[in-house]
Order: sequence, then structure tokens, then C-alpha cells
Amino acid sequence: MSLWRIKPLDAILATAEKKSLHRSLGAVQLTLLGIGAVIGTGIFVLTAAAAQKAGPGMMISFIIAGLVCAVAALCYSELASMVPVAGSAYTYSYAVMGELVAWLVGWALILEYALGASAVAVGWSGHIVGFLDSVGLHIPHALTVGPPISVGFLKGGEVGGFINLPAVLITVAVTSLLVIGTRESATANAILVAIKIAALTLFIVITLPMATGHMSNFHPFTPRGWGNPLNGTGTGVLGAAASIFFAYVGFDAVSTAAEETKNPQRNVPIGLIGSLIICTIFYLLVAGGVIGSFGAQPLVDPETGTFFSNATKMYASAACTSAHAPLVCSKEALAYVLHEVVPHNPIFGYLVGLAATFALPSVVLLMMYGQTRVFFVMARDGLLPKGLSAVHRKFKTPWIITLVTGVFVAVAAAFLPVDSLADYSNAGTLFAFAAASLGVMILRFTDKTRARPFRTPLLFVVAPLSIAGCALLFINLDKTSWFVFFGWTAIGLVLYFCYGFWKSNVRRGVVEVHEMDDDIPPPSVPPIE
Ligand code: ALA
Repeated sequence: MSLWRIKPLDAILATAEKKSLHRSLGAVQLTLLGIGAVIGTGIFVLTAAAAQKAGPGMMISFIIAGLVCAVAALCYSELASMVPVAGSAYTYSYAVMGELVAWLVGWALILEYALGASAVAVGWSGHIVGFLDSVGLHIPHALTVGPPISVGFLKGGEVGGFINLPAVLITVAVTSLLVIGTRESATANAILVAIKIAALTLFIVITLPMATGHMSNFHPFTPRGWGNPLNGTGTGVLGAAASIFFAYVGFDAVSTAAEETKNPQRNVPIGLIGSLIICTIFYLLVAGGVIGSFGAQPLVDPETGTFFSNATKMYASAACTSAHAPLVCSKEALAYVLHEVVPHNPIFGYLVGLAATFALPSVVLLMMYGQTRVFFVMARDGLLPKGLSAVHRKFKTPWIITLVTGVFVAVAAAFLPVDSLADYSNAGTLFAFAAASLGVMILRFTDKTRARPFRTPLLFVVAPLSIAGCALLFINLDKTSWFVFFGWTAIGLVLYFCYGFWKSNVRRGVVEVHEMDDDIPPPSVPPIE
């Protein structure tokens, strides 16, 4: 009996060889793929939550989160180039650190992908509701946000809320597309990237010049300090970094496309680091524009004289329900800022809102796609019931898993607020990143001779930095996110010992190599056509 039994790397790689995807992607396409997967709810919506946590100091938060992602991305790339098969960090961990760690990583990836998809769906909801409102179509408040929740550490939602119906509807739509086997093409991705970049550029061009006349908006720069992980409030510059980390998640789309890349040694790092640098520059300029044109100071609770820590209470406050509410109350931060700072030209706010409305569903699609793929591989490895990985006869997609994922994503999106969902998703992602960074170091010792199309430069500096960075952000999340993460992990452990431990293919000596039979679903990143 061994909890550390591994799935042999050769078996995993035999799978990849059978798959032999055409190497067609160059550096530019990879960078576009990265930007397409990364820019989303994080910048369009969570800027407001970051402002409540850190005020103008959120600019530093964007840099810190970007740096942690950059070092993690370098580690991911080596693994992705060595083990270029589906399942992301779950598959890497199975080959290196054994089944128990792999299970825990796969289980954490559910938080990353599924709750991440929920967060983006809720972000989309904020935009469509705002847009419909502006053209005179009012959806009742009760149908646009989740109810107030207060169960132990779990808090959120809004007074008068019942269900976030638009978020549920977009999830149903994306689930249907995934069941019938929609793939995002390179052209569609390039168009969506162009829309997002155009929207952010428009925002920057309008707002940044206003900063010169409002330098006082940058003071105090860090009204809530740097953050104190011991108090579990998840505030300050580091608390905001832990949340805004969500704005960078998705770049692993680039590393999982290593197998389809020409000259991966050169192009994968260019794609990863290139997309991260471009996103970081945009995010900093956008944050500067938000602060300079409109202000981003956190809101104080008049009853207590301290900053609001309870979002439900904050949204119900007089400040948030007034006509020109502060940024921190908005659910469509960038569009809202434009409506406020150029009120005579509402078209700009509409354009940015519409850009988000068009572009965010593709981020939901990418995240749900990743989730179905991880579930699929886990089920096929025997760690989840095999029936889950059934493939639809006509559509050739893993329809049962896709429906299960859809229900999970829709329920979370229906009732939980976007900032909480993003934080829980981050907790899972940070764990998976740290595990991958550890795994890549271990492999340098245990499998020295294997070909590494991409070698992480200065690995023994970069990987420890990545692990330390992930740990730093993790401890700066709020205590509810810790509670969700550890609670989720505990459930995962119970399930593993009741089921996966006994049923695992590796335990039973079944090593299957059948990744690319005709009847299995497409890879974790929609193929580029
Ligand atoms: N980085 C993606 C977003 O911000 C997940 O929506």
C-alpha cells in the first residue's frame, strides 16, 4: 500500500506521443492565447474589491501578484514541455509526487477552474445588468445578486438578493456549448483579445490624463497598510495582491499548449512572460487611471469609524446606495468609472461595458473547459467514478462531467459574490502552483536525463521564489478562504480514502494509454485552428 504511488511518466508520455498534435503555434499566437485567457473579471470587476482592501496601494498589489505568476509560469513551462498532456498540475503531480498529492492538487484545481468560472460568470452578470439598466431594462435586484449569507466564516451576498440569474444563464449557455463541443478558434481568440485590449486602451487614454489634475487621489497611498496575515482579514496591499492574483490566472493555457508549439524552448517562455508583462502593464495603467480620475479610497463604516470589512453591510450603506457611489460599491468597476468621469459622453462607459459583456463568456468557457478536462483525467485514472468520463456518442464530448461541472459552477455563481469566489479560486490555484513548482525541482533529481524542451532558468532560485510567493499570497487571503480551502481539502481526503485509493488504476496495476482514441474529448486548451 502506498499513498505515494506514481503514474509512470513513460505511460503518460506514451499518451502524448499517440496524440501528436501538429506544432503550429508561434510566439505571437501563444502570447495572444495567454492574454485571451488572462484578461477578464479580475481587471474589469475586482478592481473595486482591491480598492476596498488597499486603496491606491492596489497598484503595488498588481505588481506583486504579477511577479508571483511570472515565477510560477516559468516552473509550469518546464513541466508542460516535459509532460505535454492533459490534466495540468494534476498530471504533473501524479508523475512526480504520487497519487495522494496528485489527488489533492486535482481537488484544488476544482476550486481554481470551477469557482474561477463562477467568479467570471458573476462578473459578466454585473456588466449585463448594468448595461440593460442603462438602456431602461431593469432586472429586479433580487434576481441579480445572491442572498445575504452568514454561516460561520462564510459571509457575503446582498440585502434583498435572492439569486444571480444572469450568472446562472451564462453558465447554462457555456455548458451547452461545451456539451456540443464548441472550441474557441485562434481567430475568435484574436478578435476577443483585440476587443479587450481596445477597451482597456480606451479606458487608459480617457482616464490617465485626468490623474495629473488629481494627484491628491493617490494620498494616502496605503490607507490600510501592507496587510497582516495573522488577523485573517485579507486587507492591505498584500491582501489585495492575494485577491487581484485572480486577474492573472489563466496563463497556464499557454503552458498546456506547449505540445502544439513550434520551438517550445523559445516560444513558450516568450508567450508566458510576454502575456504576463503585457497584462501587468495594462493593469497598472488601468489602476492608475481609476485612481487618478475617480479615486479608489476604501470606504469607512460610519457606525464604527473603521473600514468596512463586511461587504453585505457595505453594499447596503448610504454611501453605496447613493447616486454617485464610490468605486468600491461598483460591480462593473471600469465602465462605472467612465460613466462617472465623462458623464456627458456615456458612450465610452457603454463601450467598455459591452467589451466585457462580449469577452467574459470566453473566459468562462476556457475555465470550464479546463475543469472538465481535469475531471475527465481523474475519472479515467480511476480516482473518480469511471462513469463520469463517458463520452457522448454524437458530440464526442465528456457530457456527464460537463453537466456536473455546469451545475457546480451555476450553483456557486447563483449565490456567492464575485470577490469571495475569486478568493476561493485563488486559494486552490496557489496550492496547485506551489505543488507544480516543487514537482519541477524534484524531477531535476529523479529524472535527470529526460528531454526538457524548455528548462526553467535558475530553477533552484525561481522555484523556491514561486513557492514562497504562493505561500505569501495564501496567508494574506482572508480567513474564510482558508476555511473554504482546508474544508474542501478535508472533504477531498475523505473521498480519496473512501473511493479513489481503492479504485485507482495504478493500484490495480492498470496503466492505460488511450488518450487519443477518437472518442475522447479535446485537450484542456481548446485547440487552435
Ligand atoms: N484572469 C481571469 C480573469 O480575470 C480569470 O477573469
